[in-house]
Amino acid sequence: MRVRLIGIGPGGPDDLTVAAVRALESVDVFLVADKNRGVDDLVDVREDILRRHTFGAHRVIVVPDPPRDRNPERYGDEVRDWHAARAAAYESVLLEQVRDDETVGFLVWGDPGLYDSTIRIVDRILERGRVRLDYDVLPGVSSVQMLAARHRLVLNTVGSSILVTTGRRLGTGIEAGADNIVVVLDGGLACSELRGQWNIWWGANLGTDDEELVAGPLTDVLPSIRAARIRAKNARGWVMDTYLLRRC
Ligand SMILES: C[S@@+](CC[C@H](N)C(=O)[O-])C[C@H]1O[C@@H](n2cnc3c(N)ncnc32)[C@H](O)[C@@H]1O
Repeated sequence: MRVRLIGIGPGGPDDLTVAAVRALESVDVFLVADKNRGVDDLVDVREDILRRHTFGAHRVIVVPDPPRDRNPERYGDEVRDWHAARAAAYESVLLEQVRDDETVGFLVWGDPGLYDSTIRIVDRILERGRVRLDYDVLPGVSSVQMLAARHRLVLNTVGSSILVTTGRRLGTGIEAGADNIVVVLDGGLACSELRGQWNIWWGANLGTDDEELVAGPLTDVLPSIRAARIRAKNARGWVMDTYLLRRC
């Protein structure tokens, strides 16, 4: 069985590479994770991409995501268990609903190499040894790239480095001296706790028709960011945001 992990960009149906669009055409069966969080729109975005960019026949199998504790005591253990449960769920679908001579496609949000577990899950399926497969990865436009493009930003300052981290790890990054930081996976706007002078370039639901952008001195623009998060959530039923923080 051939498996293709195809980066589909962060939400806009036309933000795929030409190689990704060609890869879509080679797929017989798409497996789409249903996160089961009332965000049908995330499945709809993937279906829209298939409607626009594929012409041949294919099947779509929506695989319910195993439940997950979002605030576990031991984050690493919880994520490992969740990956194992996802691997088992996909393994069953592959064994029961896909033939050996078919090509399977995973539509991976953004880029598969940035804060996404699909590569790890496919590796797990391989380790379990019940499904024989070969896989490749097609890169996608990440939310970080889209943020930079929308704000017409160079993410690094001249000769400097960038830390890419999560809301959960933002404090640790700052304690370690980072002063140019891209933050993803931050449902709680961890930057609102920061001390000192920072500029922020923020974006939510980037690439969609309802994207929101705010930039400026952090303390001045926090109320606008909070209001924009609510607008984005109301417009689509979900909000995902990414931002660059730079110390003044
Ligand atoms: C699980 S990570 C997936 C990242 C994805 N693989 C990528 O390349 O962008 C989810 C996080 O990515 C960011 N993200 C994904 N899509 C986004 C979008 N359309 N607009 C803004 N941020 C987005 C948010 O920080 C979100 O919490």
